[in-house]
Amino acid sequence: MNAIVDNTAAKDLELVVKQIRMEANGVNSYEFVSPDGSALPPFTAGAHIDIHVGSGVIRQYSLCNSPSEHHRYMIAVLKDPNGRGGSAAVHESIKVGDRVRVSAPRNNFELHPGSTKVVLLAGGIGVTPMKSMAHHLEAQNISYEMYYCAKGPEYAAFKSELEGLAKSGRISFHFDGGDPSNKLDISSILKNPEGACDLYYCGPGGFMQACKDASEHWPSGSVHFEHFKAPVKSQTDECSIVGGFIAQIASTGERLEVAPDQSLAEALNSAGYPVETSCQSGLCGTCKVRYLAGTVDHQDFILDDSERPDFLTCCVSRAASGTLVLDL
Ligand code: FES
Repeated sequence: MNAIVDNTAAKDLELVVKQIRMEANGVNSYEFVSPDGSALPPFTAGAHIDIHVGSGVIRQYSLCNSPSEHHRYMIAVLKDPNGRGGSAAVHESIKVGDRVRVSAPRNNFELHPGSTKVVLLAGGIGVTPMKSMAHHLEAQNISYEMYYCAKGPEYAAFKSELEGLAKSGRISFHFDGGDPSNKLDISSILKNPEGACDLYYCGPGGFMQACKDASEHWPSGSVHFEHFKAPVKSQTDECSIVGGFIAQIASTGERLEVAPDQSLAEALNSAGYPVETSCQSGLCGTCKVRYLAGTVDHQDFILDDSERPDFLTCCVSRAASGTLVLDL
């Protein structure tokens, strides 16, 4: 496992696990509350928290309850036998009554203000941020449609709660039985974006690609997504960042050598320029830093085209060549 640079301790909370529920096959929900019942730091729909699973393992999970709830944080975790071990550790080690170290909520997947219509597309456990968004949109009486894809009803977490949430029928379920030929026709749903409409999607790799392909024609800035797992990279991608490079600190002029086997975040932290990190996979945006000069080999899955000319994620991104000047 990568070393976790942990400079978030001051902001972390120690919460109690009040309830664990099986929500679907392989999916448990976890309810965290403060030990004395006091209100928790507020969050907005799309936010996530870091869970310290133990033995230095930290994982990010989207909050899935309504942002109007101040007494609890709810997450849902799919046990992934092929994952890095975090979800299995959550399922196997966290019990009701445990005290768990949890970060304050952060949001890299905000609902944009001003939408007159919202489309939410959820694949599998990607439903978690979408559920929180649906709660918010319902409460604000903002027009939306939500499509929730799963293999079958028994794999669809929060099915009955979502059915109850959208009495107006704004949430549709799609069960494909695991047969790709039965998958949701996302292209038809996204064919004609109307007016000030925003699209949000989250799900597994194939689902993300299908949403991306089907929304290429949507207006710039209207499509928003969040990966919950780093996509598998092609061989070409893997080979694109093999060298070391120089990171220059704009405020001091100091030039740091970033070794081929070292991340920019590690080099900065070792040199006394603390950078907060969380996922270490280019997924969460916690380590986002502004750069002033140089060509970046962006390796993240979070920054959009409007951010990449100015920002990089220093846990995974590197210089494409030569020197990067960082606004630090
Ligand atoms: S720590 Fe999450 S993107 Fe870098």
